[in-house]
Amino acid sequence: MELHEDFKALEMKEDGLVLIDQRLLPTRLEYITCRTSEDVFYAIREMVVRGAPAIGGVAGYGVLFAAREARGDSKRFEEICAHLVDARPTAVNLEWAVKRVAAVAKASSMDLDAIRSEADAIVAEDIAMNHRIGEIGSQVVRPGATILTHCNTGALATCGWGTALGVIKTAYGQGRVAHVYADETRPRLQGARLTAWELVRAGIPATLIPDSAAATLIRDGRIDCVILGADRITADGDVANKLGTFALSVVCRRYGVPFYSAAPTTTIDFDTPDGSMIPIEERDGGEVTHVGESQVAPDGIDVYNPSFDVTPHENITGIITECGILREPYDVAIAELRKSLGR
Ligand code: MRU
Repeated sequence: MELHEDFKALEMKEDGLVLIDQRLLPTRLEYITCRTSEDVFYAIREMVVRGAPAIGGVAGYGVLFAAREARGDSKRFEEICAHLVDARPTAVNLEWAVKRVAAVAKASSMDLDAIRSEADAIVAEDIAMNHRIGEIGSQVVRPGATILTHCNTGALATCGWGTALGVIKTAYGQGRVAHVYADETRPRLQGARLTAWELVRAGIPATLIPDSAAATLIRDGRIDCVILGADRITADGDVANKLGTFALSVVCRRYGVPFYSAAPTTTIDFDTPDGSMIPIEERDGGEVTHVGESQVAPDGIDVYNPSFDVTPHENITGIITECGILREPYDVAIAELRKSLGR
């Protein structure tokens, strides 16, 4: 059985770059149109669009807008591109996409058609990579499996289909998945708002849990494997992903439950040796003191709100990419992958 998506997180149309406003889901499905590089910066920064591959897809069109706005002024173009990269620091896909499209802009002397084609190519390639990740990743899912996932890694977080949620959807389509547990993913609730929305829409049997219920389910043998995404994977296989990923990996290791990260090779930062060097975004404390518009903590309390954490490679059973599943020793596997990709 093949599942079909009936929505697009991002789509370049005649009028501009149309994005689902993910801040409003699941109660409102509304769209925002970006027409300038600043619109794209805002959409990424404010998490209208989020998820590493989706951010990369959107950023490509940001470079197209930057080229239009710069009107041949290469210094201005570079400034706008650097500004786009600053929108969020952790997901490496952002910098990767901006560099890739900016290189075409320069090589083509700012030919807008060539730039547009490169941005389109990033989107098309991402969708194709995700389907491949789904096919490859579904092989680790034993029939009848119950899978736990964290944050949102589906069609909303990518240019289409999804990474970890793509694996789950592909495996479900093959009849392998009995049930999915989705962490709510405090504080932005990507699991509750977005993954639950995608799972319900796809008709996949699923249960939403508070993040802190995951350890008990894992200990009690109720989870066959954990599959989640990545925002940046370093040369030694360390994985930065949504806050809470590291804790899940520790519990999985303790109880011998397979723990997989699924990501396209565009999420691998080959130049960064290990996870200690990944910039971790810290977001506004209001995300913790408030749930939506409702205040849940007193005025005056100090807040620590890192958006991501780093999972050491030794806690990871495998990294599922479109080129195959990377396993220990990760540094060797990733160096070989780099060579084969010519990056
Ligand atoms: O802050 P977000 O919502 O952008 O964080 C998203 C994640 O951490 C995802 O797991 C990751 O980007 C992979 S999305 C396929």
